Amino acid sequence: MKSIISINTDKSTMVYGVNKKNKLLFLYFGRPLKDKNVFFGHHLVSKPDTDRCFETMAVPTLGGDGFMGEPMLSVKHADGNLSTELIYLSHETIDTDKNQRITTIKLQDALYPLFVDLNITAYQEQGVITQQVNITHRENGCIELQSFYSGYLNLKAQQYHLTHFHGSWAGEMKPTEERLTPGSKSVESKKGVRTTQTDNSGFLLSLGQPTQEDTGEVIGGSLAWSGNYRMNFEVDEYLNLNVLGGMNPFASAYTISNTEKFQTPALVLSYSDRGIGQLSRNFHSWVRRYNLRHGSSARLIVLNSWEGAYFSFDQNTMTNMIDQAAELGAEVFVLDDGWFGNRHPRNSDSAGLGDWQVNQSKLPGGISYLANYANAKGLKFGIWIEPEMLNPESDLAREHPDWIVQRPGREKLLWRNQLVLDMTNPAVQSFVFSVVDALKVSVPNIDYIKWDANRHIENIGSHYLAKDKQSHFWIDYTKALYNVYERVRAKYPDLTMQVCASGGGRLDFGSLGYHDEFWASDNTDPMTRILLQYATNLFYPAMATAAHISTSPNQQTGISSPLKFRADVAMTGRLGVELQAKDLQGGEREFLKSTLSTYKSIREIIQFGDLYRMHTPVDGSGWTSLCYVTGNRREAVMFLFSTQAHGRGIYPTVRLKGLDPHSKYQVEEINIGEKAHWVDDRSLSGEYLMNVGVNFDVTLAYESVVLRLSETN
Ligand code: GLA
Repeated sequence: MKSIISINTDKSTMVYGVNKKNKLLFLYFGRPLKDKNVFFGHHLVSKPDTDRCFETMAVPTLGGDGFMGEPMLSVKHADGNLSTELIYLSHETIDTDKNQRITTIKLQDALYPLFVDLNITAYQEQGVITQQVNITHRENGCIELQSFYSGYLNLKAQQYHLTHFHGSWAGEMKPTEERLTPGSKSVESKKGVRTTQTDNSGFLLSLGQPTQEDTGEVIGGSLAWSGNYRMNFEVDEYLNLNVLGGMNPFASAYTISNTEKFQTPALVLSYSDRGIGQLSRNFHSWVRRYNLRHGSSARLIVLNSWEGAYFSFDQNTMTNMIDQAAELGAEVFVLDDGWFGNRHPRNSDSAGLGDWQVNQSKLPGGISYLANYANAKGLKFGIWIEPEMLNPESDLAREHPDWIVQRPGREKLLWRNQLVLDMTNPAVQSFVFSVVDALKVSVPNIDYIKWDANRHIENIGSHYLAKDKQSHFWIDYTKALYNVYERVRAKYPDLTMQVCASGGGRLDFGSLGYHDEFWASDNTDPMTRILLQYATNLFYPAMATAAHISTSPNQQTGISSPLKFRADVAMTGRLGVELQAKDLQGGEREFLKSTLSTYKSIREIIQFGDLYRMHTPVDGSGWTSLCYVTGNRREAVMFLFSTQAHGRGIYPTVRLKGLDPHSKYQVEEINIGEKAHWVDDRSLSGEYLMNVGVNFDVTLAYESVVLRLSETN
């Protein structure tokens, strides 16, 4: 090996090497290594019947270096040559701050002026590493990129278990774990807009036995991209695992001229040798610091109008809901769908989408009346938009038929009675920006935007893109969306924004970077949410996980559950409410009020604390328990949920995690429902709480306990 390039965080090391032929090799990703010099003498055996060694290129290319797997980069050169073989040119390292180091490795095709910069960013404290590439060329004419992944790992273990997440509307993020066997497995999206509704790009890879919470080697990854993606896991003939993550090459051949630069999104990776618990904590602290808007500000309690009013409301309904929100103790009121459209009023999902003028008969005082009303009651005001979409029954559809994504000459296929605007068109980008801008200019006291996107792309075709660039659509759409987000963020940096696409349909590190939070699912049934939020919070932190208490049963769930249980589940994320107080029974209103006030007293622990999971919804115990612990370990909140009926006397023991074994904690049950579960008023040591554990009489389905722990010494 001629030189070694080592990328380090406090929790991991990634190593690249340059061999005698000036080829960049991928050598290692795993536990921190002190002695990287060992790689200079790296012994590689020869491939049979060749004079070549088993070497793994850092950027495997089509037709390069004898690589026969799925290529990270595949290029049709200007002269039609399909092969690419990269050589190392140089590398440099820049520290952007004490915690963040960017290493850029420059590569070039041995025969063509094709340049690939591999950028690897290491986040020291959080143990997160991102990979990303930029591609340029000076060939005589355009080149066509046929695959363009962001990052690549070559892993060597005896076994690999992959956990990935799939689902559907109102049932997102269902985890599946499977052993990887020789061959390829890919997790991908071809849906364009609601990218992550069926499969999420987040994955967990256990190197060895199936994943464990606190033990074992595991790599987690996800793509910071809100368009089509593909994560490819290929076990080759040597039983090595080749991992690729990037934008989906599916139907997306992309031509670039010799003056353009092609940038891929970041593949976000983390390694843990202490199971998935540590991995989640790595991702959460990275997201809060680097990949979330206002990641150091506590999130407020939202009351959203959707499930309380749906489309049937007028001004009085809304002012009543604002009164109720104030009385309950909510801090932001969000006016959801149904507020716009005059010639085509938005009284159902079949008309009005695209006509962003306030509906005069429903809301004669306009948005400003409601925003001022909310402010007068001490609440901030927010509003729902879905600016990338339109109903055919709208003024917008009549005025701009060429703005619609459509298959030339064929029927426009509807989904939720709507179509998608062609974001590749700069005029459409300006229109989408103007939806936010016009609202903010006319009602400056709008503090919160819920940005929805309720269908995926089935009609393939852009009026705007040239005939020979139609396959650019998928990538250009997402880049255009990000341009608009950038414009919104540049002008309105303080705005709180929620990303929503029929729930968690656009939940990825790409969209999250522009937002403050996401709507995890339209399903607010607490049993479903326990699994859904467990899986979501493997990657994405609690402070960004909007979790609302709604009435029960409701349109989505059809199942009844006690308010206390619903409230406790919602408190594990960013608590909100989505109902009308008139639909509460008996003492429920008072209980809800006290829940909101309790949440305010513990939200800093939940939103900024480290998450530890004890029982998980996938461990088969029928309980779920978790705790959030502050960085200084002085405060914690524990949640326990019974997710099935257990036999009488079958009590769970919860051994807490993350506390200081030498400290004593005052333990107090909070948000108590009909029955108290904790009557012990002794202070207990962290050692006791974590090793002996505590028992609860929680045996019936839908029972739950919340404990607050505060250090006493
Ligand atoms: C989507 C969202 C809901 C609500 C409706 C409004 O389904 O996920 O929360 O905003 O749209 O139409």
